[in-house]
Amino acid sequence: NEKPTALIMIFGATGDLAKRKLFPSLYRLYKKGKLSERFAVIGIARRPLSNDEFQANVKNSVESAIKDSGELEDFVSHFYYHSHDVTDASSYLALKSMAEELDTHYSLEGNRIFYLAMAPEFFGTIAEHLKADGLTDVDGFKRLVIEKPFGHDLESAKQLNKQIRKAFSENEIYRIDHYLGKEMVQNIEVIRFANAIFEPLWNNRYISNIQVTSSEVLGVEERGRYYEKSGALRDMVQNHMLQMVALLAMEPPIRLTTDEIRSEKVKVLRAMRPLEGEQVKEYFVRGQYGKGSMSGKEVQAYREEPMVDEQSNTETYVAGKLMIDNFRWAGVPIYIRTGKRMAAKSTKIVIQFKDIPMNLYYQTEQTLNPNLLVIHIQPEEGITLYLNAQKSGQNMEATPVKLNFANKGIDGMNTPEAYERLLYDCMRGDATNFTHWDEVALSWSFVDKISDVWESTKEDGFPNYESGTMGPREADQLLEKDGFFWWPVTDLDVEEC
Ligand code: BG6
Repeated sequence: NEKPTALIMIFGATGDLAKRKLFPSLYRLYKKGKLSERFAVIGIARRPLSNDEFQANVKNSVESAIKDSGELEDFVSHFYYHSHDVTDASSYLALKSMAEELDTHYSLEGNRIFYLAMAPEFFGTIAEHLKADGLTDVDGFKRLVIEKPFGHDLESAKQLNKQIRKAFSENEIYRIDHYLGKEMVQNIEVIRFANAIFEPLWNNRYISNIQVTSSEVLGVEERGRYYEKSGALRDMVQNHMLQMVALLAMEPPIRLTTDEIRSEKVKVLRAMRPLEGEQVKEYFVRGQYGKGSMSGKEVQAYREEPMVDEQSNTETYVAGKLMIDNFRWAGVPIYIRTGKRMAAKSTKIVIQFKDIPMNLYYQTEQTLNPNLLVIHIQPEEGITLYLNAQKSGQNMEATPVKLNFANKGIDGMNTPEAYERLLYDCMRGDATNFTHWDEVALSWSFVDKISDVWESTKEDGFPNYESGTMGPREADQLLEKDGFFWWPVTDLDVEEC
């Protein structure tokens, strides 16, 4: 149980992410004894606040996120506030002296984490100032944590990368993809590489297709301004969806180290078949939600949401077929779909195995269910394996059954949240579950080809799915063309064994 020591500087400390995720996660780490007493946090934002006011905010956010949070005084005493102008050098100099005082006071060994929990347009300016005004000039480690979106396309991502690389080297940059902090996303690797029974089958000889779904019930909420420019492709596919695909499809790394795992993931992204022009329509489907009814409540269409253009061409849904052109995966489609205002909140991976060579159970005219391995990422966490077994009491009749493993945390407090894991990893210097620049660049170059086509052709059919459904009809046809269908995100109604 390592107890890292560091000064954490959170830019955007009055924002939503800091309140909802970062403060509660730090508290959980503290409470579990994973932080040493030698840590301090400087909250940085524009508005003037005293340390006391800031500490009261931190306390509130922990209390609203965690039931029975108990005594918080000791924890919040580690928090300090700095009112900051990101473009003003004198502001950085004041921040620097504050950092130095805290460094001495808490014996932080000059370790610094700069967490940019704010709009990316300032990343470059902040990184340049941190260097120019001496904040990165430290005896210990310096690390930069940045949130998505990492650019808007490959070109802007390159620009951004160039700016931050002036102050931080690649191995000091921690690009967050919060899906990589999810328990069951991390479990993909363990399921594959710690079991003898799956890896031999994990290829085009035994797997017919893979389906990765991440559906959301919520609409675009208050984020219309950002989302209009982003859409589901940039918001979810470029990062979370492709990261899950990379973990599913990568070769076994020679060791479980950051570099080895990353280099295997990069190879998958490199092997993804790039789509050109007309192919985009063949492989990808876009959707936009119309009005509809969700849990008995009428909800409005995307085009009626705040800060959204009435004629918006932005997609709130994407379904796609990815082909990984390498020896292992040639011929196996990996289908992905993600969208807002869908019927259920669910992230799930279904691995569908090929049919058995010959069905001996034809007398009953039944078609056998294929074997499925389902990895439940959220809201439930676990694994289900669908098999066929003899129907009880019926000779020679097969029926589908399931083996279930539910990954239940001991209680809310003990199941680490994605951000908690990622913060801890960053403090310990483990970058495995963060995205390397090479992964970012390859995902953008894949996604750019699709957005180029979509942006140059207006979708006449929008809105093309009703809120509360699983997306447009074309997404079903995408699989039907190949002789498949989307497995439901709910469990199949079969007996448990
Ligand atoms: C974020 C997207 O990265 O992921 C959001 O910007 C989306 O639009 C969210 O709602 C989904 O995350 P989760 O953990 O709720 O599946």
